[in-house]
Amino acid sequence: FHVSTDASAADKGAYPYYMLKEIDEQPGVMRTLIKHYIAEDGTIKIDDDILQSLHQSDRIYIVAAGTSYHAGLVGKELLEKIAKIPTEVHVASEFGYNPPLLSAKPFFIFLTQSGETADSRQVLAQVNEQGYQSLTITNVENSTLSREATYTLLLYAGPEIAVASTKAYTGQIALEAILAKSLGELRHIEAAADFDVAKELTKVANGEQELVDEKKEIEKIAAALLPTTRNAFYIGRSIDYDIVQEAALKLKEVSYIQTEGFASGELKHGTISLIEKGTPVLAVITDKNTAKHTRSNAQEVMARGANVVFIASRSLANDSDQIVLPDVHPLLTPLVAIVPCQLMAYYASLQRGYDVDKPRNLAKSVTVE
Ligand code: G6P
Repeated sequence: FHVSTDASAADKGAYPYYMLKEIDEQPGVMRTLIKHYIAEDGTIKIDDDILQSLHQSDRIYIVAAGTSYHAGLVGKELLEKIAKIPTEVHVASEFGYNPPLLSAKPFFIFLTQSGETADSRQVLAQVNEQGYQSLTITNVENSTLSREATYTLLLYAGPEIAVASTKAYTGQIALEAILAKSLGELRHIEAAADFDVAKELTKVANGEQELVDEKKEIEKIAAALLPTTRNAFYIGRSIDYDIVQEAALKLKEVSYIQTEGFASGELKHGTISLIEKGTPVLAVITDKNTAKHTRSNAQEVMARGANVVFIASRSLANDSDQIVLPDVHPLLTPLVAIVPCQLMAYYASLQRGYDVDKPRNLAKSVTVE
């Protein structure tokens, strides 16, 4: 009988690594967010000051780094389609030194798991200097970005320990969906009235559960596809392009496979020259408007020898697709599609012999610019 004195090891419970624990926690994070932010009768519990301030702005600027930036890409889809407010998404380290021309009444949203990222803090300092309103969406109460912004919304995802972010990404998107819904309602947008966010996020939670329960399948696919390759591609269009950028970041940061998340229609304009016999290409298909096009782009790389794995929503899937995703609301597909991609990264890292929780050269929170 061995009593561990290592508190952090104890926190992992039965899990070998935090990353796997945190991937598995995602359905629970969805349910916690619903509980925190949506009352039984469907009323959304977000401070009216935040909503009014957003409502009075003419353009939202989402600023973030890394995985949080990718959650911002999906946030743009949600805010523009459900709340009908023009939204731009910016990498914090770029925005800080080369800001875009701002609209007359900008509102800033900072997405940050840790609330401490220096690149984002630097932009917030400028925003405060200019007297603009801001909202920090973070997992860490009382973090610097939370204290320095006008408003804060918390993710309640529980501590995220693995360097590669997983549950913060899905938590951020879910909270953006809740925010878009309440803002859209305030603005009397029809798309918001039709969007039953609690019901849709519950469906997501169930779908994510289905996917984490099938992780052995992903382990097998990773073992067949990724054990020795030097590079790989994730491809998709529209919202699937948002997803593949995060999927590629996950894979490269923990497996050291050079991976690009690419707009599949853009491949033919140069990058397809990198495809050779055996190059792994993972095609994500959850958007019905571009499904056919992504499939034909996948055919183009197959014709050049690529090893293609399809990750497709059930309603858009072919019999031969290797990974089938439960159907959810079209703007929430990143919440389910990312799960097998996170698992793919996790298993590829382990199969290649790396410490998946602490990839080389990376820090959980980067407090230098
Ligand atoms: C670091 C981490 C990434 C994270 C990024 C932004 O680079 O390694 O996983 O996405 O910072 O962190 P934040 O805490 O601001 O979301």
